[in-house]
Amino acid sequence: MEWLLLLCVALSLSLARANSSYDYFRLPTALRPQKYDLRILTIMENVEDLRFNGTVKIQIEALQNTKNITLHSKDLTIDESQITLRQISDEGSPENCITSTEVNPTHDFYILNTCQELLPGHIYELNLPFSAKLQEQLAGYYRSSYVDPVANKTRWISITQFEPASARLAFPCFDEPGYKAPFVITLGYHKKFTGLSNMPVKETKPHESLPDYVWTEFEESLPMSTYLVAYTVNDFSFKPSTLPSGTLFRTWARPNAIDQCDYAAEFGPKVLQYYEELFGIKFPLPKVDQIAVPDFSSGAMENWGLVTYTEGALLYSAEYSSQGDKQDLANTVAHELAHQWFGNLVTMNWWTDIWLNEGFATYVASLGMENVHPEWRSMQFQSVSNMLTIFQKDSLESSHPISRPIEVVSQISESFDEISYEKGSSVVRMMHLFLGEESFRTGLKSYLEKYAYKNAEQENLWESLTEAAHKTGALPKDYTIKTIMDSWTLQTGYPVINVTRDYTARTAELTQERYLLNTNISREHRDGCWWVPLSYTTQEEKDFNNTSPKAWMECNETGDSLPRTIKDLPGPDQWVIFNNQLSAPYKVNYDAQNWKLLIETLNSDEYQTIHVVNRAQLIDDVLYFAWTGEQQYDVALQVISYLHRERELLPWKAAFDNLRSINVIFRQMPNFRSLKGYIKKLITPIYEHLNGINDTDLSIQHPDQILLRSMVANWACTYQISDCESQSLSYFRKWRSDVNPDENNPVPISFRSVVYCTSIKRGSDEDWEFLWTRYQKANVANEKETIMDSLACSLEVWQLQRYLEINFDPKGEIRKQDSASVFQSIASNKIGFLLAKKYLMDNVVSISKFYHPQYEYMAELLPPLSDQIFTRKDYHEFKTFISKSKEQLKDIEQATNQSLEIILTNVQWKERNYEKFTSALQKFL
Ligand SMILES: *[C@@H]1O[C@H](CO)[C@@H](O)[C@H](O)[C@H]1NC(C)=O
Ligand SMILES: *[C@@H]1O[C@H](CO)[C@@H](O)[C@H](O)[C@H]1NC(C)=O
Ligand SMILES: *[C@@H]1O[C@H](CO)[C@@H](O)[C@H](O)[C@H]1NC(C)=O
Ligand SMILES: *[C@@H]1O[C@H](CO)[C@@H](O)[C@H](O)[C@H]1NC(C)=O
Ligand SMILES: *[C@@H]1O[C@H](CO)[C@@H](O)[C@H](O)[C@H]1NC(C)=O
Ligand SMILES: *[C@@H]1O[C@H](CO)[C@@H](O)[C@H](O)[C@H]1NC(C)=O
Ligand SMILES: *[C@@H]1O[C@H](CO)[C@@H](O)[C@H](O)[C@H]1NC(C)=O
Ligand SMILES: [Zn+2]
Repeated sequence: MEWLLLLCVALSLSLARANSSYDYFRLPTALRPQKYDLRILTIMENVEDLRFNGTVKIQIEALQNTKNITLHSKDLTIDESQITLRQISDEGSPENCITSTEVNPTHDFYILNTCQELLPGHIYELNLPFSAKLQEQLAGYYRSSYVDPVANKTRWISITQFEPASARLAFPCFDEPGYKAPFVITLGYHKKFTGLSNMPVKETKPHESLPDYVWTEFEESLPMSTYLVAYTVNDFSFKPSTLPSGTLFRTWARPNAIDQCDYAAEFGPKVLQYYEELFGIKFPLPKVDQIAVPDFSSGAMENWGLVTYTEGALLYSAEYSSQGDKQDLANTVAHELAHQWFGNLVTMNWWTDIWLNEGFATYVASLGMENVHPEWRSMQFQSVSNMLTIFQKDSLESSHPISRPIEVVSQISESFDEISYEKGSSVVRMMHLFLGEESFRTGLKSYLEKYAYKNAEQENLWESLTEAAHKTGALPKDYTIKTIMDSWTLQTGYPVINVTRDYTARTAELTQERYLLNTNISREHRDGCWWVPLSYTTQEEKDFNNTSPKAWMECNETGDSLPRTIKDLPGPDQWVIFNNQLSAPYKVNYDAQNWKLLIETLNSDEYQTIHVVNRAQLIDDVLYFAWTGEQQYDVALQVISYLHRERELLPWKAAFDNLRSINVIFRQMPNFRSLKGYIKKLITPIYEHLNGINDTDLSIQHPDQILLRSMVANWACTYQISDCESQSLSYFRKWRSDVNPDENNPVPISFRSVVYCTSIKRGSDEDWEFLWTRYQKANVANEKETIMDSLACSLEVWQLQRYLEINFDPKGEIRKQDSASVFQSIASNKIGFLLAKKYLMDNVVSISKFYHPQYEYMAELLPPLSDQIFTRKDYHEFKTFISKSKEQLKDIEQATNQSLEIILTNVQWKERNYEKFTSALQKFL
């Protein structure tokens, strides 16, 4: 199949390569689409020949004189004899025509040279017929399938995924986000199917010639970018829900999964309604459909009015989905619906500002979840998780600014990363906290209203927010949002702030520099200056709720940091803590005395007087500083040792994240025994407090505690703490002995991943087969995901080897969208690591064919490997592999650079800290 596709492309290229000088990556600006009329006939009668054809009629306004129409088209067959062009703006609709066409394959341009010059001010109508196979990759207009268990037959459906640059695979168009236009979409299909698109159905009528086929025309859409267009032909069922405001809301899934739609059908409308209040702008479309697609490349896609999801991100089953799955689901739905305003109503001009879409949607989703489910404490949870992620990713020299130049499609794909999402979200939250509720909301509303149905860039948002902030006095008149925010969005990285107190003068000197993991980088190269809002509190005051800045770190015109002195601090017997509730993305290091005071409070019954988010902050900061040598491990371990009292999720999450990085290196070293002993001692009290993995105790019902319990159980079983393994094995035995294991599962939902994993690790070949059969029979995506990852826990080399092969078998039973996650699970296994590394190195060519042309998946294969490599020799081996595989890895350069840097910092850690860390551990055993 792959080679056929390649041949097609090669053929069309040889026809007429553009010989013109126009080789810029953006479309020429001489024309602007005004409206699209898109008719598509989808034919899915024959599995061997799933295809579509259609015509697109584009009304185009000329802005300058031009003799060509340049638009995007990729992998489409265009019957050039049928193309028509005419002028429609004046009476008489004079005919124009096309003399010749060319393609520019580098930029996916399709160029039509016109008979007569197009003149500014005139409107033209271009008619283009096209046809293609339904794509086999998960982009463009593509096929997906599921097995109907009653008929035991594979059912095919069609669906679109256009972001960022795949509308051009489905129809010729001006495929840049700035070219917004209304769309009238008409779908033709066999009448046994349902057709859905962004807008509601206008009318359905029989096909003029094909028996049993219909044409369904949808209402004209509002002006929108091509990447938000969506349509599908399927035989799914739906669950309706209705908002009081009147928006029709439906949740779609394959018929056998329709009972898993209830939760999304309830949550979606609630959060949509909340956003209408939050933004003060009504949802502009008459309906929303959300649909669970069996094969889907990302988690979800916010197409306006027709939101698409993987099954795991939309379908919920009370019997199979865990608390974590449920919260992830709500988070995804809340994120996509936030895009209906941020992204769909107001869209970035160009992909450089993709963070405006993603950062905002990520942040606003946590507001939405907090509103609908306050008991989840999503704001806190999300903000701490995001910070933990960016403190890691953005401490690499090979990271990048939130806002970055984009010239080729692979760079767009690489920008859908933690920097756009998590760092974007963190800086939006920072603004929210320093501006306060009123200016933040007023500024946003005026931005959304001003640019509705249009495009904007970050400057436009800064203007609206500055205006609101000056009006309310939330920001001094000599400060602008632009000055502050440019330092966060245009610079890579984040700062560490050194706080050096003068205990007699009761002051503190603050300095900043970029925080980097690579300790070989000299002071001079740690440049950069950030405008940092400084909130802080003292041991006496303990006012962690006040997150508005008491002072700012400032930068002068040449971008140098101005030192800051804080006055009126307490005396030598009281600590201070900066960055209340982690309100901005920076780390804080203190002098020895302040750390000593903090350690005393943490290790006392008063530890809770430090806010839970700041307890997580102290753990994360001190462990990073110890890693990079700015603190002693003795000090760090004194901070951590308070955890034997800790009962809350976030500090543990911070600790586990950090321990994981050390653990995957240390477990390969001769002194691992001391770390094992230390972790056992650290975790046993919390494991016992949470009653282990004994689910008969119903006292633990708070969502946070349920999440904590799964997390703790995971570590407890890995370190064979208490009865964790024996309990797990006994749950599993009980399940295996059930006559109908697909109906009855006695394993408590929140422990399934740890129970399955432990049982596969300790179990027999039959246990593996048993679980594999459950995977094949499972009807709930969340359960399938849990099983897929657990099957990678085997310690049998042959079993893991076979699983790697199953995983990359194009005809195998693991869907392509899940293969990176399965690979990660195998590579994270202590035995699987070396196998996975070798497998990737030996098979990089076939793996790259497997993912062709969506190479971005390959970026996900690297981190679990680089996390575990820590010798110079292996660093060089990895580096050689990367340079030898340039061809296969060229689209994921960012990921390969980051992996190499991670390995380098592991090598540094080993060389600097291995002995020190081992001896520090001894004191705590
Ligand atoms: C699309 O295919 C159908 C059926 O094969 C055919 O009748 C129709 O003319 C085609 N339309 C276009 C625009 O090529
Ligand atoms: C098409 O027209 C634009 C605008 O006049 C021009 O900049 C561009 O070079 C032309 N493209 C080709 C391939 O000639
Ligand atoms: C379903 O069909 C496949 C082949 O089409 C066959 O191998 C399998 O045994 C069938 N399963 C059942 C439960 O009938
Ligand atoms: C901050 O403190 C650390 C550790 O004492 C030191 O290495 C670093 O140079 C200091 N940075 C600044 C900007 O003062
Ligand atoms: C801080 O805010 C929380 C939640 O709103 C509240 O429960 C608590 O009492 C506040 N603490 C102080 C010291 O104001
Ligand atoms: C900014 O501060 C640096 C360091 O203090 C200094 O060298 C530079 O001259 C200052 N620039 C301006 C424009 O004040
Ligand atoms: C689990 O809880 C039940 C009821 O509280 C108790 O009888 C049983 O002993 C507990 N098991 C373990 C291993 O703690
Ligand atoms: Zn998004």
